[in-house]
Amino acid sequence: MRSTIRLDQASVSSATDFEWPVESPQTTHFSVVDKDRNAVSLTYTLEYGYGSAIVVPGAGFLLNNEMGDFNAGPGLTNANGLIGTPANLAEPGKRMLSSMSPTIVTRDGELFMVTGTPGGRTIINTVLQTLLNVIDHGMNAQAAVDAGRIHHQWLPDRFYFEKQTFSPDSIRLLEKLGHIAVEREGQGSAQVIVVNTDNMSLEGGQDRRHTDSTAAGY
Ligand code: DON
Repeated sequence: MRSTIRLDQASVSSATDFEWPVESPQTTHFSVVDKDRNAVSLTYTLEYGYGSAIVVPGAGFLLNNEMGDFNAGPGLTNANGLIGTPANLAEPGKRMLSSMSPTIVTRDGELFMVTGTPGGRTIINTVLQTLLNVIDHGMNAQAAVDAGRIHHQWLPDRFYFEKQTFSPDSIRLLEKLGHIAVEREGQGSAQVIVVNTDNMSLEGGQDRRHTDSTAAGY
């Protein structure tokens, strides 16, 4: 915004011409590797926009709203995906369950891959699929991020797939096996760095499902 300010001319205030960079109100993930191959994988969340809407006085940051990740009540497991395990009952001193999975992979003690994503309960599957795409299927970082994603979390008993991940024929075959297949737009926003072991360079994969995603090298 500062770069748009001109000292020699007043700017025009216009209600119809207002640009603001697109920014997701949701969970954020960063993957970082420095020149010495130190790595950071960081997923942080307010849950949704403004979290609990409480700013820490004097510190200036918002508190998150993760209480919804505790069980709503003892034994409350339902078909919509609430899992009522005793371990996740809200009690003082406890930390609620979380799917957040910031991940660093090493090979023979050396850094190989950094990955992570937002996406609530889908996080674990998205992270796993980026790992499988690189480690088992030999994809580079960007191909691993671009590849279609799937998600099943036991309850609800649904198999979610991203648009164009499967042919209609494959979906029919899965349905024949008894799967309830549900198409969805995008799953997660994975940010991936892979060490290319041929030349030891770093590959960055940005999630093109979201416009506020980026990969950069310095
Ligand atoms: O801790 C968890 O697993 C969730 N509360 C994370 C929330 C999240 O990813 C929401 N955004 N997409």
